[in-house]
Amino acid sequence: MMNPILLAAIPIISYFFLLLARMKVIPQNAVLLPSPPRLPIIGNLHQLGSILHRSLYKLSKQHGPLMLLHLGTVRTLVVSCPKIAEEVIRNNDLVFATRPKSKVMGALSYNKNDIAFAQYGESWRQMKKLAKTHLLSSQRVKSMSSDRAEEVSLLLEKVADAASRGNGVICLTEILNSYVTNVITRAVLGSWVTKEKKKLLSKLSHESSALFYEVFFEDFFPNLNWLDVLRGSDRKLKNYMKNWDALFEEIIKNHGRESKEVNGKNNTYFIGTLLELQNDSSLGFFLTNDHIRGLTLDMIIAGIDTTFATLDWCMTELVRNPEVMKKVKDELRKVAHGEDMIIEELLGQLSYLKVFIKEVIRLHPSSPLLLPRESLEECQIQGYNIPKQTRLVINAWAFGRDKSYWEAPEQFKPERFFDSNVDYKGKDFYFIPFGVGRRICPGMDFSMVVIEIALANLLHCFDWSLPRGITVEDMDMIECGGVISSRKQKLELVPIASKVN
Ligand code: HEM
Repeated sequence: MMNPILLAAIPIISYFFLLLARMKVIPQNAVLLPSPPRLPIIGNLHQLGSILHRSLYKLSKQHGPLMLLHLGTVRTLVVSCPKIAEEVIRNNDLVFATRPKSKVMGALSYNKNDIAFAQYGESWRQMKKLAKTHLLSSQRVKSMSSDRAEEVSLLLEKVADAASRGNGVICLTEILNSYVTNVITRAVLGSWVTKEKKKLLSKLSHESSALFYEVFFEDFFPNLNWLDVLRGSDRKLKNYMKNWDALFEEIIKNHGRESKEVNGKNNTYFIGTLLELQNDSSLGFFLTNDHIRGLTLDMIIAGIDTTFATLDWCMTELVRNPEVMKKVKDELRKVAHGEDMIIEELLGQLSYLKVFIKEVIRLHPSSPLLLPRESLEECQIQGYNIPKQTRLVINAWAFGRDKSYWEAPEQFKPERFFDSNVDYKGKDFYFIPFGVGRRICPGMDFSMVVIEIALANLLHCFDWSLPRGITVEDMDMIECGGVISSRKQKLELVPIASKVN
């Protein structure tokens, strides 16, 4: 009779061979790529820690700036140095222009009818064009400046109000989060959205970025998709999407009830424009409800947490670096000419504030691994053959710490950007917090103005310090795990109204 242990092992061994067959046996050259030793079946999954960009950085120190990981059945190429990223984008941007399939991305994009998670192709191109034209173009961003001015006034009121209560300590993280949620939902969904709905939206948006870390067996082991049903992950995702569906239904129902003219101002918002475009035959393609949902959800998910995380890091670094805060405030005083508030027209004169923000996003890019891509066909990188359907992860977080490009990268020194043309617009491969190539973030200008105007006024109107008994050394600078890298510790500060002049 057969040994019972051997008998029990048969299904596991067969499954392993099945997986190898599914992987279509890795081509010879690809095997030569530096790769950490892996375990059968799970590959390198066990080597990934909770903060992915940090564990990939650590692995790259041992295995090199171009390494191949096997995440279950998924071949994943990790690029940790700007020179190789430049080679990939310059020679193979088109090859890597698509996003990989994943259960969460599929659901959040309403079946890839969006921009961020869509497959490369005509639909993605049309959606990106719509977002750029009707929400994110510099002209459109400018046209929403009075909405932002109202939200900034509200932000300042909230700070003053919170500070007047208790011991004057406020949770700035929460206030910043609600400011960014308000600005972005107002531009995307209109101003009818109630306080409760905004809270729900912000909660759902945070949960979305956490969802990316929810392990779906289907993504790494397609044959084990039944385990997702068994573990309840499938049901959890469906229930989660039901919340968004309900919200969209209500928004669509409310659309049209709100007047286009509010207090004499044009009250156009993104989803309203999209709903109107549905009836526009000159559009050249049919804009489905799923397109509208996918596109709107993108703006919320891709826009809110990234912008909020950056603003929160900015205030954190200002408090950690009082001499930098002083320089920002000095510049603001000069530019404000005694006015109570900084208006957007003055932002162009705030050159120190701008280099300060660059320094923050060099060290704390809110999307540290950009968004994953996948090869549409076989290609060559650094002389290696990279097969079709290889996933690509670019560690932009590591680039900001690369000693070959940055002098004393661990130091916080905004002045490094003075007399330098280095920018985050995708031309300087060692500074790509917004990504590069065809898939670059279209929301750069929008997020920057939302951040700059808030910072300028928070700094112009208040002096900031840490609560009594807390020192800079007590500030934990570690980030949350998840696709968006916000600071884990909430920022609690004491604001004191500053004297203008
Ligand atoms: C500080 C704020 C932001 C940061 C750091 C950021 C960063 C990024 C990054 C790294 C990517 C991936 C690029 C790539 O794959 O190469 C991306 C994509 C994207 N972002 Fe942003 N983003 C920010 C704000 C926004 C805002 C405000 C919006 C819209 C309201 C937005 C919409 C998008 C969209 C739609 C994509 C997908 C582009 C595509 O796949 O073609 N982002 N962003």
